[in-house]
Amino acid sequence: MSSLSPHAVKKFRSALLTWYASAARDLPWRKTRDPYTVIVSELMLQQTQVDRVIPKYRAWMKKFPNVQTLASASTREVLGEWQGLGYNRRAQFLHRMAKEVTKTYGGIFPNSIDALMSLPGIGPYTARAVMNFAFETSEPIVETNVRRVLSRIFVSFKHTLSLTEKEYWALAHAATPKKDHYNFNQAIMDFGAVVCVAKKPKCEACPFQNMCNSYPEILSAQPKHLRVTKKTNEKIYFGEPRRIWRGKILKFLHTPRQQKNGASLVEIGNAIQNDFSVERKEWLKSVLHTLIADKMVEQKGKRYHLPL
Ligand code: ADE
Repeated sequence: MSSLSPHAVKKFRSALLTWYASAARDLPWRKTRDPYTVIVSELMLQQTQVDRVIPKYRAWMKKFPNVQTLASASTREVLGEWQGLGYNRRAQFLHRMAKEVTKTYGGIFPNSIDALMSLPGIGPYTARAVMNFAFETSEPIVETNVRRVLSRIFVSFKHTLSLTEKEYWALAHAATPKKDHYNFNQAIMDFGAVVCVAKKPKCEACPFQNMCNSYPEILSAQPKHLRVTKKTNEKIYFGEPRRIWRGKILKFLHTPRQQKNGASLVEIGNAIQNDFSVERKEWLKSVLHTLIADKMVEQKGKRYHLPL
């Protein structure tokens, strides 16, 4: 991958910021620079679309307005508030992170990449997102939208899924300005979510047509070159990957009756699958054991329930 020309980078930054000035989405987490709030929104946004995140984010902030309230909440309350977002491990990470920040840092988030990355659930992207969105230091960020936009414009849409992480970070590093970096990073995510979208990019509304390495070929591209994410090798059970069944189990155990009494294996099976039958008992037990190992479910005798 060749390095980016300073002229192209300058043009890109300025056109992106101009586009953002009139097209920015009004997203609630952009009204704050509070690190806790930034982390909550970033973890929610990791695998879930903005529209679905917004109501969950508002409810979460109402229930757990700061790191202390989250740290002192029960696992049950935390998982309950996460319902509907999927990938429940993120809620567990947030909870552990809140406890650690309260205990180790007196409730004040550290402001270095290394210290942030030593917290549960915080990887290279989230650490830099916090540095930039909360502490407003100039940091490149690399997430799905950024990968797509930068690789299409500066490399080619054919390589959107095939660059190495190092190459994406190098692109983001070269593109991110030293000033106005907060808006630049928010802008590139919005641009990827609104114009340079995965399946049917809206090239007619794009200010980068004359400098884009993918235009106009991208308009007649094969679907495999526009794929949203790499294919995972998640195994499918009865039509869904295991994480979906895990989510359904937690949702069921969270209903008031099950919170009180727990549920038996068969009750859980019948609640999550219309066609549950005894042959699936061993499979369901194995899924429940992954939840028990992750401390999201407890077993007492023959009944399963959420931890307190
Ligand atoms: N995806 C990840 N972080 C985001 C943010 N701050 N705004 C919009 N989409 C995002």
